[in-house]
Amino acid sequence: MPELAYLNGEFLPIDKALVPIEDRGYQFGDAVYEFIASYNGRLFYLEEHLDRLDRSLKGLSFPPVSRETLRKAVLTLFEKAEIQRAGIYIQISRGVSPRNHAFPDGVHPQIVMTIREIEEKPPELRKNGAAAITVEDIRWGRCDLKTVQLLPNVLAKQKALAAGVFDAIFVSPEGVVREGTSSNICIVADGVVITHPLTPQILPGITRMVVIDLCRELNIPVSERFFKTDALYGSEEAFLTGTVTEVLPIVTIDGHRIGDSQVGPVTTRLFEALRQRSVA
Ligand code: PDD
Repeated sequence: MPELAYLNGEFLPIDKALVPIEDRGYQFGDAVYEFIASYNGRLFYLEEHLDRLDRSLKGLSFPPVSRETLRKAVLTLFEKAEIQRAGIYIQISRGVSPRNHAFPDGVHPQIVMTIREIEEKPPELRKNGAAAITVEDIRWGRCDLKTVQLLPNVLAKQKALAAGVFDAIFVSPEGVVREGTSSNICIVADGVVITHPLTPQILPGITRMVVIDLCRELNIPVSERFFKTDALYGSEEAFLTGTVTEVLPIVTIDGHRIGDSQVGPVTTRLFEALRQRSVA
């Protein structure tokens, strides 16, 4: 069974999994999500994704959702689908209730999941690096919570595609570089890997965390601090990190060449180390 859905305890084909129109995720974006990948039939950092899901649920004051139920559902879905390189999408909404902004009483969180094969990024993109543009960060003040309110991300991604580049990087009105539309961003300056610190303005990416850990393991200096667009344009290397993106080199931003416009050695080392960890 290749692709499958989970809907509040039931496993069924994706096109048979339907959500009521008064689901608050649908009407208010009142829902949180996770996206977990597998490599060679093993889920990558499942517990860390469940930890972050729990923080998102608590951040929106959802009633408790059993971690055990979630873990079991994810593992069963994964087992049933038998997809080696799978992407599991989990979404939990506050519940179904007649439209009213205030939290409704007596509703239950709605849990839905899908499992599909991950479409790998084109090898040329990894080999030659990608181009990106910057866009003003118009998102809300709690980007550390993984909610389904992704319209600014959707619009920014589309703007990037319309400009003929791979992705857009959110930048604050003061020029602070935040993150990509579905990834975190790192630069390399004077041999140091620099990435935005964990604040409510970015998602605490699991891949970001793994990459920081890999830097320490490989004795690559790493620093979590703010940097602005001038540092980005003048960096030696830049790369995105994310569950699907993995470690993806960026070689041009807003038309500025990063380094010598080639994929840099630190980016390559970290990509290889990440892949290594996925089979370890
Ligand atoms: N997105 N920042 C944003 C805004 C994201 O949406 C994501 C992930 C990340 C990277 O997080 P992680 O390393 O845990 O995947 C950073 C997922 C993949 C998505 O929206 O599908």
